[in-house]
Amino acid sequence: MTAMIISVIAGKGSPGASASALSLTLTWPRPVLLIEADPAGGSLVLGYAAGADVGGRGLTGVRVAARRSGMVEAIWANVVTLDENRWLLPGAGTTRQTEAIDYPAIAVALADLGVDVIVDAGRIPAPVRHDALSVAADLVLVAMRSTLPAVHAAQTVAAVAGEILGTSTQRASSAEDWVLRSVIVGAGRPYSERDIRAAMADIAPVAGMLAWDAASAGALVDALPAPRQIASTPLMRSAAKLATSLARQGEPDTIATGPATAQAVHRAGRTSEASAARHPSRTPEPAAVRVGGAS
Ligand SMILES: Nc1ncnc2c1ncn2[C@@H]1O[C@H](COP(=O)(O)OP(=O)(O)OP(=O)(O)O)[C@@H](O)[C@H]1O
Ligand SMILES: [Mg+2]
Repeated sequence: MTAMIISVIAGKGSPGASASALSLTLTWPRPVLLIEADPAGGSLVLGYAAGADVGGRGLTGVRVAARRSGMVEAIWANVVTLDENRWLLPGAGTTRQTEAIDYPAIAVALADLGVDVIVDAGRIPAPVRHDALSVAADLVLVAMRSTLPAVHAAQTVAAVAGEILGTSTQRASSAEDWVLRSVIVGAGRPYSERDIRAAMADIAPVAGMLAWDAASAGALVDALPAPRQIASTPLMRSAAKLATSLARQGEPDTIATGPATAQAVHRAGRTSEASAARHPSRTPEPAAVRVGGAS
C-alpha cells in the first residue's frame, strides 16, 4: 500500500470542508490520520468530540514536541484515536496559535507518517506557508455547495489553488488524474450535479458527491446527537462511496501504471518511486485519548 495525502480546501461560505474531511476519514478504507490544519483554528474537538479532554494534544503541541524529537514523532505524539485505524490531529485552539505553526515542516513529514493523511486545510487563501500542505498532497479537493454563490466561491478558490499547485500538468491529464478536484456537498440545492460538473470541468473536475444530510453533519461538526446507525445515513454512505473511489487512486497499480498520475504526483513534489517507498514505516503509537461520539 502506498500512503496517500489528500487536502480538503474551501472558499467563503463554510461549504462543509470539515464535515467532508471527517466523513471521508471515518469511511476511509485504509488507516488514516485526519489533520485539522485550518488556519482559522480547529473545531473538531468541540464539534465532533463534544469537548472531550484530549490532554492538550494537537497541532500546537506538535510545535513544542518537534523541538525534542523529529517531526514524525511529534505528530504521532499529538494525535487522538478515533478508532483502531483512524486518528485525529486536532487543530490549534485560536488563530493566534496557528500563526506559530510550521506548516512547511509538517508538510514534509506527511509522506513519512506511514498512513494515508487527510488534511482539513480550511479556507484559502491562507498564510503563504500553509500552502505547503496542499502542495504536498496527491489530491486537493475543493468542498462546494450547489448554490450560485457557492459555485462562484468554488471557482474562485479553485483558481487560487490552481495558482498554488500550477495548472499546466493538470490540463494535460484526463479529469480523473487532476490533482485539483471538487466535491459537491448536497447536489441539487438547487444546481444539479450535471450543471456543476460543467461549471467545474475546466478548473477542478468533480470527484464525487456528499449527500445533504443535516443530522449526520450536525453530529460530525456541531456536536449534535448522532443519528441512530450513523454509518448507514446518506452522508456516511456517500462518503464511503467517495472514499473508496479516491483511495483507489492511491493504490500502487494506479501510481505505477498511469503516466498522467505519475506526472501529477511528480508535480506535487515527488517522484513515483518516492511514493512507492512510502510504505508504512512506523506503527502509530496508541494515543492515550480516544474520542469520537459519532463513529
Ligand atoms: N453534507 C452536509 N449536509 C448538511 N449540512 C452540512 C453538510 N456538511 C456540512 N453541513 C453543515 O454546514 C455547516 C458548516 O459545515 P463545516 O463546519 O463542515 O464547514 P466548513 O467549510 O469546514 O466551515 P468553517 O468555515 O467553519 O471551517 C455545519 O453546520 C454543518 O452541519
Ligand atoms: Mg472547517
